[in-house]
Amino acid sequence: MRVVIQDDYGKMCKWAADHIAAAIRAHKEDRPFVLGLPTGSSPIGVYKELARMNQAGELSFANVVTFNMDEYLGLPHEHDQSYWYFMHDNFFDHLVDMKPENINILNGMTEDPEAECAAYEAKIASYGGVDLFLGGIGVDGHLAFNEPFTSLSSRTGVRNLTTDTRIVNGRFFGGDPEKVPAQALSVGIGTVTDSKEVLILISGHNKARALAASVEGAVSQKWTCSALQLHNNAIIACDEAACGELTVDTYKYFLDIERNERL
Ligand code: GLP
Repeated sequence: MRVVIQDDYGKMCKWAADHIAAAIRAHKEDRPFVLGLPTGSSPIGVYKELARMNQAGELSFANVVTFNMDEYLGLPHEHDQSYWYFMHDNFFDHLVDMKPENINILNGMTEDPEAECAAYEAKIASYGGVDLFLGGIGVDGHLAFNEPFTSLSSRTGVRNLTTDTRIVNGRFFGGDPEKVPAQALSVGIGTVTDSKEVLILISGHNKARALAASVEGAVSQKWTCSALQLHNNAIIACDEAACGELTVDTYKYFLDIERNERL
């Protein structure tokens, strides 16, 4: 695993956007580049920078297919807290050459969640898998909506949200955790770790325990993000604030080994 430590949130986002852009540009195959995407506050700076590059003609999304990680169950597209709405508002609406038919987001209004999730996995497979999955994590280490004790080999399916997550996400629902949907559709940990590359953003003091568990802890379903340790090509991009629970040795090790940071 690589851990790329940046001074602050802005630099972390810039590094991640440059990394994603380099991967898309390097993709020379006929089939599209398949990009997995998250919601949340963590990726917003990355989306802004990727959209800027796209508008400036520095990066094309014409040959990119996207799959989002998750969606609340029971929220229609037009709900301003649906992840469909978030993705269009924060990213897709700002791209000049993203094809709408190449955007894939789980349908939170589906009448058959199991079929919706199975079809999503099949569609990812039909493209030959995800080339790069960008992600964020929750304060309890959840990756997508894979809460603690979700199987590390889980596939796309329905997830019950913990009270903790509904309290944290309540800030987007007028501060009321009860208004946060109790269930979501989410890719599995196995879906994410099947990707050729995984890039996880971890920013801020409130993620420090999750970062330490991801990097220094044992691989455990208690911290589902720790599954990254078993991936052959996983990167965590983080900021200084998130490093507060790493041991000094670990922190110095990654600064040392990444001193000539590769994109
Ligand atoms: C939600 C999403 C996760 C996301 C997490 C962290 O729970 N389902 O995919 O990683 O929030 O969000 P933030 O980046 O706002 O801390």
